[in-house]
Amino acid sequence: VRTDLADRDFDAIVLDGSTVHLRDIRPDDGSALVAFHSRLSENTVVLRFFGAHPELSKREVEHFTHVDGIDRVALVAERSGGIVAVGRYDRIPGRDDAEVAFVVADAYQGNGIGTILIEQLVRIARSHGIRRLVAETLTENRRMLDLIRNTGFAHQYEGSMGVLRVVLDISQSREAREDHVGPPGLPTR
Ligand SMILES: CC(C)(COP(=O)(O)OP(=O)(O)OC[C@H]1O[C@@H](n2cnc3c(N)ncnc32)[C@H](O)[C@@H]1OP(=O)(O)O)[C@@H](O)C(=O)NCCC(=O)NCCS
Repeated sequence: VRTDLADRDFDAIVLDGSTVHLRDIRPDDGSALVAFHSRLSENTVVLRFFGAHPELSKREVEHFTHVDGIDRVALVAERSGGIVAVGRYDRIPGRDDAEVAFVVADAYQGNGIGTILIEQLVRIARSHGIRRLVAETLTENRRMLDLIRNTGFAHQYEGSMGVLRVVLDISQSREAREDHVGPPGLPTR
């Protein structure tokens, strides 16, 4: 059962039964984002940044927290006032394609938060004329590859040398997707 997801600010119940709050990132989220990043395991950081990246630079924090909500969108999941996940897309200038990236705090991975984030990003991206989402992921990143496959959208893999570029065709309607399974989280309002 899906309820209306038109709202970009809502609570969702995730697979462990807890509730997370989803909303757009804000310019004043810098310190929360730094705290979130500092608590990620080395492995999670490598999966997201493809190498060691112990701290976010001031420039990255500025870039990640200042978005236009149209061509650059970042959604955060919060719990107890702290950020537990971020999902974002950045349109490739002048194109109908956007790069996506996700990171979920280690303790919250596998709970469906990434699934909710990608569903939301797809919906927002489509409403702004974006037709393809491009995710760069390490070939070993089974969870990310599962996440993409579970969206039900057609996708293609490109690249080699340990990094896959997965191109997700979001231009088709939801109804046209085959075997679509809804996200585990149900919005509560
Ligand atoms: C990859 C990542 C973003 C995925 O987010 P996530 O919240 O952990 O993933 P989800 O829980 O939404 O989805 C994957 C899981 O939910 C399950 N799932 C998906 N849809 C489901 C549904 N409708 N019902 C039940 N389970 C479902 C999947 O089978 C999978 O289970 P498992 O991985 O525990 O075996 C996250 O794990 C992460 O941050 N990893 C490190 C950084 C990274 O890899 N970033 C991606 C590169 S940009």
